[in-house]
Amino acid sequence: MFCCSFCLSLFNWIIITAVISFGIKFLIKKLRGHVDITNEVDISGKTVIVTGASDGIGKATVEEFATRGARVILACRNLQKAERCVQQIRSRTTNGELIALHLNLSSLKSVRNFVTEFNQKYGDKGLSILVNNAGVGNPLGVRKLTEDGFEESFGVNHLGHFLLTNLLLPQLDKAAKEEEMPSRIVTVSSGAARFGKLNFEDLMFEKTPFVDTAFFSQFLCNSKLANNLFNLELAKRLRAKKVNVRSYAVCPGVVETNTVLEFPFPPVVKIVLWITRFFMGKTPKEGAETTVYCSTSKYLTHHSGEMYRNCEFWDYSKRPKLNEQDAKLLWEKSEKLVLLGRDESML
Ligand SMILES: NC(=O)c1ccc[n+]([C@@H]2O[C@H](COP(=O)([O-])OP(=O)(O)OC[C@H]3O[C@@H](n4cnc5c(N)ncnc54)[C@H](OP(=O)(O)O)[C@@H]3O)[C@@H](O)[C@H]2O)c1
Ligand SMILES: *[C@@H]1O[C@H](CO)[C@@H](O)[C@H](O)[C@H]1NC(C)=O
Repeated sequence: MFCCSFCLSLFNWIIITAVISFGIKFLIKKLRGHVDITNEVDISGKTVIVTGASDGIGKATVEEFATRGARVILACRNLQKAERCVQQIRSRTTNGELIALHLNLSSLKSVRNFVTEFNQKYGDKGLSILVNNAGVGNPLGVRKLTEDGFEESFGVNHLGHFLLTNLLLPQLDKAAKEEEMPSRIVTVSSGAARFGKLNFEDLMFEKTPFVDTAFFSQFLCNSKLANNLFNLELAKRLRAKKVNVRSYAVCPGVVETNTVLEFPFPPVVKIVLWITRFFMGKTPKEGAETTVYCSTSKYLTHHSGEMYRNCEFWDYSKRPKLNEQDAKLLWEKSEKLVLLGRDESML
């Protein structure tokens, strides 16, 4: 079978490398934190919204909530795709309720229409959990705009969710009062935030050039840093106004979804990505775990404004980029950009 002893030893090395690699992969999987289903708030019958629920992590998150009996609103820009998700999930579980509703975060008007429709049709019991999950991909070297003229990542990932969250606060507050239990807002951020750099004089890169890293677009990193600052300031304002709503930000990890894989990276980057994915990669279901943890865990009832990763507290606060002045400034700028009326926000 083997032509020579060299081939035999090469064969042995391949086997050894494969065994060790899969061993490490298995260990990493075992060691990271997982959802503890024995310590969850009961969410059956409660209303939950997940943005970007038509694919990847969002779709998996919806399935977890449905399994737990919740009434889940899939807030999606493509309703046909969302309906297909509903059918797929329905073929696996009959629990809970699944409702697809149109939301295109690229448009402030669509955000407002979504909230009006939600209030009219499903606002009876208030809203117990809001998951700000939708995110645009990571295209390097291009700058796109939303309907309102915002740089797309910043507009969709941050500003759209900023407006959505503010407009839904009365509903979150209502559910908290009816259930006598805090409602929760979970924003899906990313470790890419560490490469973010916000220039408050030019948030949309209209005047300054943008600089992508080998892996991440500057826009993606900035929008994710904005998600983290938003979480910090939101929690602070909720606390100050004594609104019984908690806020958390999540890093889902490296998850095998469209966003990451379809990208024309240079070959070296592709190899590094491939290795990272092999060892650290999560399925969408695994990627949804930290979101589910922050949405339901009893451990977190008295926490707010923190970050979580692998279903564990992630001490991100020490990072210099996450400071309170920036969080406040971003909030104030965002209020102006989305034209949030004084009477429209509880905060
Ligand atoms: N995958 C990872 O490794 C990873 C790592 C860190 C953070 N994240 C974050 O996790 C979140 C989910 O990403 P994913 O990996 O699950 O990606 P995905 O599979 O591409 O899903 C993204 C979802 O967002 C939706 N979306 C995009 N633009 C939208 C818009 N303008 N309005 C409404 N919905 C919009 C997409 O809708 P369509 O179905 O219509 O395209 C899709 O449902 C994102 O915030 C992402 O940044 C992911
Ligand atoms: C979302 O809105 C933007 C801006 O109006 C638009 O260009 C895009 O086609 C819309 N996406 C979908 C899927 O409707």
